[in-house]
Amino acid sequence: MISLIAAVAENGAIGKGNQLLWHIKEDLAYFKQVTMGHPVIMGRKTFDSIGRALPGRRNIVVSHSKLSLPTPPAFKKDGTPSNTTIEQAEDLSSLLQELKRKRTEFFVIGGATLYSAAMPFAKRVYITKIFAEAEGADAFFPKMNEAEWKEVSSSKVLTDKENNIKIQFVVYERKS
Ligand SMILES: NC(=O)c1ccc[n+]([C@@H]2O[C@H](COP(=O)([O-])OP(=O)(O)OC[C@H]3O[C@@H](n4cnc5c(N)ncnc54)[C@H](OP(=O)(O)O)[C@@H]3O)[C@@H](O)[C@H]2O)c1
Repeated sequence: MISLIAAVAENGAIGKGNQLLWHIKEDLAYFKQVTMGHPVIMGRKTFDSIGRALPGRRNIVVSHSKLSLPTPPAFKKDGTPSNTTIEQAEDLSSLLQELKRKRTEFFVIGGATLYSAAMPFAKRVYITKIFAEAEGADAFFPKMNEAEWKEVSSSKVLTDKENNIKIQFVVYERKS
């Protein structure tokens, strides 16, 4: 099963200059909680911007070129297995076709190109709504067709004090 997870501003913006628009602690904690232990798939540019494998997860990086990826440590500081791996996939459409049929929830974690490519294969979309407009953004989340998606959960609206921005966690599922 394929899910998308993204933090999206009111104008659909998700990034600028290959960086996130805001660093919102609650959102980063939510992202960690939702994706921990699950495989994550990202475009090469998002991987460059994160700069390392996300710990405790199988990391799949998509690129047309052969990448030289770092080897994550096999163990955590306390000696327990890190469960962190990293690999490359070159054929995105075959990968998505294959993962769509799996029981495991695979998370597409960005960026814009990957979200657009994966949206038709996705069954669930986790959106952190950011109640602000991002000026100068250059990466956008694809439009979700309301006829295809239903909202299945939404959190209360929270205020991030550092950025003084309101956010809300909403989950959508594809209508069957
Ligand atoms: N707000 C959020 O939740 C969120 C989450 C993640 C990322 N972002 C933001 O999104 C932006 C990056 O998005 P982006 O669209 O520029 O880049 P991206 O989707 O992260 O990566 C694009 C790269 O992925 C590879 N790729 C894409 N389609 C492929 C295919 N069909 N086959 C093989 N490789 C493929 C290519 O790598 P090669 O060029 O190496 O071939 C391509 O250049 C950044 O600003 C980032 O901060 C936001």
